[in-house]
Amino acid sequence: MAEFRLPPNSRYKKGKSHPAPAGAQKAKTFQVYRYDPDSGENPRVDSYEVDTAACGPMVLDALIKIKTEVDAGLTFRRSCREGICGSCAMNIDGTNTLACIKPIAEVKGPIKVFPLPHMPVVKDLVPDLTHVYAQYASIEPWLKTTTPPPGNRERLQSPEERAKLDGLYECILCFCCTTSCPSYWWNSDRYLGPAILLQAYRWLVDSRDEATGERLDELEDPFRLYRCHTIMNCTKTCPKGLNPAKAIAETKKMMQARRG
Ligand code: SF4
Ligand code: SF4
Ligand code: FES
Repeated sequence: MAEFRLPPNSRYKKGKSHPAPAGAQKAKTFQVYRYDPDSGENPRVDSYEVDTAACGPMVLDALIKIKTEVDAGLTFRRSCREGICGSCAMNIDGTNTLACIKPIAEVKGPIKVFPLPHMPVVKDLVPDLTHVYAQYASIEPWLKTTTPPPGNRERLQSPEERAKLDGLYECILCFCCTTSCPSYWWNSDRYLGPAILLQAYRWLVDSRDEATGERLDELEDPFRLYRCHTIMNCTKTCPKGLNPAKAIAETKKMMQARRG
């Protein structure tokens, strides 16, 4: 195995190297961030050579293979394995994305796998999402009504009203967007960030919701909404092809419209 190198300016120290198994046909190097707060040691980057000829096609397949066959201590989240649950969000080759839908073949050279940036790390590739989930709860992401539902049936929407939720309901709360947003990096204590603002907009445009004014009041704040400076990283990085920056811009328009 060729000795792996970190860039000269890397903040991380080189960790262990795990060579490819004997007889490997198509070895690919994965450089993976490792951090165990219980060890008291600084983070390091371990290197694993994986035989991709004997592995599924996605980065998550390689991580599962490493965990199963080489290093049971490697820690990451995953569940659905098909881009639906959002659990496996991480930074791969410098971009926030979902490991289960990121093809290994798309990355030339060694694949760098790091946790989502600017989040506290629980262990290895697992970010601590406590704060973003508290921010999610703060927007009260459920249908709020004051009028009773019609008779004993659900509240109906026209096809046009329902279509307004397209591009919003698909959000899987992976936080790839939020953790790519410079405004969020510097102001995450007060700025809600693109994922939560897209969710907030999802309720603002739901024709069945009757708390629009109250929801806008909650967002009318120099930090919660207005820290978005339209840098667009969020939209570029969303692995579901959604457009949080547009949702934020539309929310600002709604604010403007009600000011008259
Ligand atoms: S458009 Fe707004 S939310 Fe998206 S990355 Fe830029 S500042 Fe962040
Ligand atoms: S908008 Fe996209 S990147 Fe952001 S949380 Fe939702 S699915 Fe993930
Ligand atoms: S494992 Fe569910 S999105 Fe990747």
